[in-house]
Amino acid sequence: MSTPSPADGGRATPAFPDVDGLCYGGDYNPEQWPEDVWHEDVALMREAGVNLVSVGIFSWAMLEPREGEYDFGWLDRVIELLHANGIRVDLATPTAAPPAWFFARYPDSRVVTRDGTVLGPGSRGMAAPTSPEYRAAAVRIASKLAERYGDHPAVVMWHVHNEYGAPVGEDFSVHAQRSWRTWLRERHGSLDGLNAAWGTRFWGQVYGEWDQVGLPAASPSVVNPAQRLDFARFTDAMLRECFVAEREAIRAHSSRPVTTNFMAVICPTTDLFAWAREVDVVSNDHYLTAADPRTHVRLALAADLTRSVAGGKPWMLLEHSTSAVNWQPRNVAKRAGEEARNAFSHLGRGADAIMFFQWRASRSGAEKFHSAMVPHAGTRSRVWREVVQLGADLRAVAEVRGSRTQADVALLWDQESFWAQDLEWRPSVDAQYAERILTFYDRLWRDGVTVDLAQPSQDLSHYKLVVAPASYLLTRDAAANLTRYVEGGGTLLVSFFSGIVDEDDRVHEGGFMAPLRDALGVWVEEFLPLREHETTTVTGLAREVTGTVWADDLVVDGADVVGTYTDGPAAGQPAITRHAHGAGHGWYVSTSLDADELAPLMERVYADAGVVPSGLPEDVEVVVRSGADAEYVVAINHTQDVITLDEPQRERLAGAGPVVDLLTGDKLGDTLDLPAGGVRVLRVEAR
Ligand code: GLA
Repeated sequence: MSTPSPADGGRATPAFPDVDGLCYGGDYNPEQWPEDVWHEDVALMREAGVNLVSVGIFSWAMLEPREGEYDFGWLDRVIELLHANGIRVDLATPTAAPPAWFFARYPDSRVVTRDGTVLGPGSRGMAAPTSPEYRAAAVRIASKLAERYGDHPAVVMWHVHNEYGAPVGEDFSVHAQRSWRTWLRERHGSLDGLNAAWGTRFWGQVYGEWDQVGLPAASPSVVNPAQRLDFARFTDAMLRECFVAEREAIRAHSSRPVTTNFMAVICPTTDLFAWAREVDVVSNDHYLTAADPRTHVRLALAADLTRSVAGGKPWMLLEHSTSAVNWQPRNVAKRAGEEARNAFSHLGRGADAIMFFQWRASRSGAEKFHSAMVPHAGTRSRVWREVVQLGADLRAVAEVRGSRTQADVALLWDQESFWAQDLEWRPSVDAQYAERILTFYDRLWRDGVTVDLAQPSQDLSHYKLVVAPASYLLTRDAAANLTRYVEGGGTLLVSFFSGIVDEDDRVHEGGFMAPLRDALGVWVEEFLPLREHETTTVTGLAREVTGTVWADDLVVDGADVVGTYTDGPAAGQPAITRHAHGAGHGWYVSTSLDADELAPLMERVYADAGVVPSGLPEDVEVVVRSGADAEYVVAINHTQDVITLDEPQRERLAGAGPVVDLLTGDKLGDTLDLPAGGVRVLRVEAR
């Protein structure tokens, strides 16, 4: 698929950069180095098999040293050098780091925090997204770059800005104040509409004039949650407007695909399903959470979310790290083989580009202790040897390019519900959106079930199972969609504190969870949150399970009771229910089960849905990409022991026919060894 570009009278913009094979490389910041180092850089890039680098991401001050004065000489030379060596360029607009002159000249464009602190320069992070001066300057430098390099044969894609949403997300500047009122007028039509949507009669917040409507800045008590929810939407919309303005400036001169690097999962200020509609190719940055011993599961979730927002199309991992990062409290280095496991997990989940931050470790500045493809230790290092090996491995598996990762289970992901649920004064601070998503995801990951992340309002009919771990905000329309899904034969599993409010954070009429009553055959009379560390026991599944955080006073209206509380605030009452509705089933679980405790519940739910767990050892990660003539099974052994799959396991993984490991060229027999901490990419003739 490709999108027509106005620049060339409708010539299509490719949906992926024109690079042979899988893309491999990283952020390249040559402006930090003398030119003789550049020559060593390209020689090493060739040695490692690098074919794409992202250039110029933070170079605004070097490209426009004074307002309206440009210096492209150094960038010309860098691009020519890369071109001469067959390395393609992902050219960035440098607008995530406005130069010192910009902030000196336009001090009002500095970002203001919720408590009124004005953020100074000397770091990075864009100016106020609503500042007209910032937007004009950003569009100007983007146009200049596109005009100059838009048709350059080495420049195969555009990298707009860097990680919209962080470090700058919410902004309370004067520019934000002005744009906020304009945006609210468009959303609500009139002041009466706004007062109604925000429920301003509560605490007497009624607005009589538009200029009384402020930003949700720090206040004596809790700010109106509907106002804050709208502000989250506004923040996302303003950032997206900045992207679109730069994208259009580029498209006027270039028909190369345009992207911006997302931060799937961790950045709460951007609604990635909406952003994905604006880019030609979806790309993501991902870093491990060192404190989490199961950080590879978070990685898989981020990759699956990225693929899902991309609509299943191939996407690009634009940044990850060869080893430690430098911005966590304790920056744990990757151990031998870990980086390859990470890279292949992204690849298995649909990435056709494996890129790093950054090519060469910086000597100065805030990120000098961040790992790189060329570390401070140079090429006589484990990291460099692994970088070279990964380049070779990606060439060996290049035929996976364009194949698609398939999933028949969906986890619901709704950014608006995320924003709404995590505001203040909820029934329990322990009920957190991200925690529930990750826990359910972890259970599915352990069972070897590949999932898509899906929006509650989208067509879900092709999924065997839909899980709603945290759908606090659920519109009537979305609830009707879920109900239709069940009626049509789907299996829906809903977790507690779902279906509670509408798009304005207003409690649905008819009792908690009323919009899901038909699908689930239950509704909630009262929430019964638990004290910190309190537990509650549920019987009725294959084994007793322990819940935390939450219980409900549940009213059964047609459902069968599967699990019952034996203690805690809801002792003797239903905890888990199953409702036959239409041709499908609606399940409800009213307490917080961790990934272990979810196992017996999921067994029952899988049975209804016809979902078959992989049956492989728990720390073997398996994902399948389907191509036109073959399937590619990416198998990652996260343990430090060799795992031998017996004949039935081998058959479930890769069928009974001939199988080749693309990484080694080995033809595999009836059983299959997964090397300790190792990866296999198996080519299986289409089954
Ligand atoms: C982000 C940024 C990069 C770099 C890395 C460090 O992803 O985009 O510029 O700061 O983090 O991990």
